[in-house]
Order: sequence, then structure tokens, then C-alpha cells
Amino acid sequence: MKYIEIKAPAKINIGLFVVSKRADGYHNLRTLFYPVSDLYDKLTFEPSNNFEFICNSAELPIDKGNIVVQAKELLERTFGKKLNVKITLEKKIPTQAGLGGGSSDAAATLISLNEMFKLNLKHDQLIELALQLGSDVPFFIRTKPAIGTSRGEILEEIPVEISEPILIVNPGIKISTKEAFENIQPGENRFDYRSIINGTELFYEKMNSLVVNDFENYAFKKYPQLKNIKDQLIESGALFALMSGSGSTMFGIFKDVVQAKEAANKFPKYYYCWISIPGC
Ligand code: C5P
Repeated sequence: MKYIEIKAPAKINIGLFVVSKRADGYHNLRTLFYPVSDLYDKLTFEPSNNFEFICNSAELPIDKGNIVVQAKELLERTFGKKLNVKITLEKKIPTQAGLGGGSSDAAATLISLNEMFKLNLKHDQLIELALQLGSDVPFFIRTKPAIGTSRGEILEEIPVEISEPILIVNPGIKISTKEAFENIQPGENRFDYRSIINGTELFYEKMNSLVVNDFENYAFKKYPQLKNIKDQLIESGALFALMSGSGSTMFGIFKDVVQAKEAANKFPKYYYCWISIPGC
């Protein structure tokens, strides 16, 4: 058994269309998941005589309430054996922020324990287990740009690449995904992502009128400062700006790092700002 260190990156949703409510209580959606590779949590897995879980964030539970522990226990139930391991989670991605931090940690745990304990789970089996942990977890099994449908677990990888910096802004508001879904009305939007993709490029101009996040209405009404952040991103020259997931993170794509930094400097100091630089 070997020591494993893994980066669990964040994601943004470039558009989030809630299409319909399903009989199982979940919603069918359509979204473009895009990885933010340079903003990540770090997890380490070390062989141990018992199970131990350490997390640097006081905000998160370190028992069954943590999705990392849930992922380990799901594997134990699936294989009918104890997995003795010391897991350390170093959190950097803001939580309950629409950036997929917890989902990414869960996927990283499945991938790492599969390797460490030679469980031989294939890609499809990992996806199936990932979906039991959360709707966004399957995306993080491969973490490649992909159009997600159904609950987000049907993934069609597409070769888009954002070559501009992305400014991520979070004002510290925590939004419950469950509550957000309870407060929106699904709409039959027939938007087709192919209309804004040309090879590996995205047409930002077209996106501004076509690509929406159906959670913005609810989130902006409850937290008007989120709408202000979006307006400020656009005023600062963002080529495209939107909320990610069910919020509260807003992101803007800028033509260069200088402009992204200028925009970031205009937000209050206590806001979390991250500039994701392509290729990092
Ligand atoms: O799948 P996950 O645990 O992340 O979802 C949290 C909650 O959000 C679910 O319990 C459900 O109420 C809602 N949800 C939904 N449709 C989805 C994803 C989540 O209704 N596609």
C-alpha cells in the first residue's frame, strides 16, 4: 500500500439550465462543467492501523457529515471490508459556494482508495458510486470540460479551452443546494451548447444573451449583493459573467490578467477572489 497525494480541483458551471422536476425528487438539468485546475483542495492518503481523518477547516465536520468520510464508508459497504487509512484534507476551495469543492474531495477519495486498496473499480463503476454521493461528484472522476445532463452524471466531454483568466468572486454567503432547487421553477429552455462553441473556443458575445444560470433569480432576490458583483464584473470589462452552480460564487472571464486584477481590487477585502490563469 502506498502513500497518495491528490489535488481535488474546483469547477464552474458555464450556464445552468434546470429543465424539469423528476419523479425521484431530483431535477434534470443541462450545464457546461468547466474545471478550475489551479484552485484545488489537497488530500493525502496514508496506510494506517485504524481510520483517521484530519481536516484543516474548522467549518467542516470530521465525522460522517463529511463527504470524504461518506465516500470511504460507501467503498467499505460495497466491498464488505474496513479500509484503514489516514486521510488528510487541506481545504482551499470555499465551501457551499457552487464550486464543487465537497464533490471534488469525494471523487478524489474514491479514486485514491480504489488505487491504494487495489479495488479494481472501472470508470463506469466509479461514476455509479460517485452519483450515490452527490449529483456533481461524477464530473470529478475525470474533471474534463463536459456538458452534463440528467442530474449531471451523464457527461459528454467537449474539448473547450478557456484561454483567458477567470476571476472567481465569493462574498462568503453560504447557499444550500437543496434550498436553491426548492425555490426555482424549471423551464423548458431548448438552448444547445453547440451554438456557442467553435472548435475549442467559446463565443462570449453570443453567450451573454443565451447562457443563463436558472438559480440567479432566486439567489439575486435573496442576496442582492450577488447581483451587484455580477454588475461590477461586467462594468470592469468581463467578456462574460455568471453565477456558478446554485451560488454564491460569481465568475467573470477577462481578456487579460491585468484587467482581472483591476476588477478583483474593486471588491471589498473580505471577499474571496481567485484569478484562475489558463495553463496553471
Ligand atoms: O445530489 P446532491 O446531494 O448534491 O443534491 C443536493 C440536493 O439538491 C438534493 O437533495 C436535491 O434536493 C437537490 N438536487 C436536485 N436536482 C439535482 C441535484 C440536486 O433537485 N439535479
